Amino acid sequence: MDKIVIEGGVPLQGQVEISGAKNAILPVLACTLLTSGKNKICGVPRVRDVNTMIRLLEKFGAVVDEFKDDCLVIDTSGVNNFRAPYDLVSTMRASCLVMGPLLARLGQSVVSLPGGCAIGARPIDLHLKGFEALGATIDLEKGYVHGVVKKFRGASIYFDTVTVTGTANLMMAAVLAEGETVLENSAREPEVTFLADVLNQAGAKITGHGTDVIRIKGVSALNPLDCKIFPDRIELGTYMIAAAITGGDVEILNCNPQHVQPLVRKLRQVGVQIETEQENIRVKSNGCLRSAEIQTLPYPGFPTDLQAQFMALMTVAKGQSIIRETVFENRFMHVAELRRMGADISVDGHTAIISGIEGLSGAPLMATDLRASASLVLAALAAKGESVISRVYHIDRGYEMMEKKMSQLGAKIRRVK
Ligand code: UD1
Repeated sequence: MDKIVIEGGVPLQGQVEISGAKNAILPVLACTLLTSGKNKICGVPRVRDVNTMIRLLEKFGAVVDEFKDDCLVIDTSGVNNFRAPYDLVSTMRASCLVMGPLLARLGQSVVSLPGGCAIGARPIDLHLKGFEALGATIDLEKGYVHGVVKKFRGASIYFDTVTVTGTANLMMAAVLAEGETVLENSAREPEVTFLADVLNQAGAKITGHGTDVIRIKGVSALNPLDCKIFPDRIELGTYMIAAAITGGDVEILNCNPQHVQPLVRKLRQVGVQIETEQENIRVKSNGCLRSAEIQTLPYPGFPTDLQAQFMALMTVAKGQSIIRETVFENRFMHVAELRRMGADISVDGHTAIISGIEGLSGAPLMATDLRASASLVLAALAAKGESVISRVYHIDRGYEMMEKKMSQLGAKIRRVK
């Protein structure tokens, strides 16, 4: 298994370009199952979760061409299988996104209950209740969810909790339904709004996306998709924090500053200089950071996917910081690893209290989930001495060429087999 070795203490300098958004491409790939023909998708990041979704699509009978630059062509005319096996689904929770499209297209789906990051129980009950409201029969058997429906019928669905993939799944289920579906307390994440735009371009009739009430008027068929994935806001946030924690000066290209407003505000508050343009952000820090208080929330709040990285930053900020995780119940697994680098963090339920220290020291570390792993890379970049991070397959799930991009910024980072 690969490891990443980092010799910390180098302020990052230079330019880095952001890749296409992982959490946007995964629903779009699932969405191709609703079409019959050649879908073209560009701006695709080459990360492991994308490969997993491609392999799933192939299992269902789609033909996926080799990458041409960052574009994929996916022919879904031959889709005829509706079984998603455990070995693929268990590695990625977002695999459950194929349920809505499979049920809408083939009237059946058999999908293993998902795995993914171990950051909480993460049930999919709201997805399943939604499919039932649209007329499907759902059964659980030996770890697999069996769904059957003749044809989805529009319905009014209220999500008890804001769920990102739940909203995407139900939206995809409803586009080919008979009549109108209303999704209330929907997610407003840019990835959900983008999916609605992509569906509308293909002939769907969706309104209200970007607000918490989404209306979908069913249509009889969709055209194949032709779209370009927008830049990843979590990758962007991770590089912004990397610049801040190392006392660096980094210009981040191909990004949407609007998508990271809560982070921009917090970084400015703790003493980091940020200049934003239309598609670029420059982040400068002299390494003197103040403490802060954050609470994770659904979009447009502070994203849970940047909580671990922000915590790494606060370990070296002056004073006491408080971080409340309100989206997931078990998302502090990075705390134990950060403590091994000298960080002073105590946890009480969903709240972490961080007392800033002078500096972290390098240590052997273990990646536990995707974003926690990113926080360890950031901490190691700032730490004195060498850190060796194992289980980096978590990082490969969602960050394209992270060590290459960090090296370009001057980081002493390498991957060892
Ligand atoms: C998505 C993102 C993930 C991000 C998360 C929150 C993708 C592929 N992944 O995950 O990176 O961390 O949003 O921004 O886009 N819940 C239920 N029942 C359900 C569904 C969700 O109780 O049926 C709960 C979850 O356990 C969690 C909360 O709702 O506590 C939010 O989860 P959700 O928005 O569904 O996360 P994902 O869509 O899996």
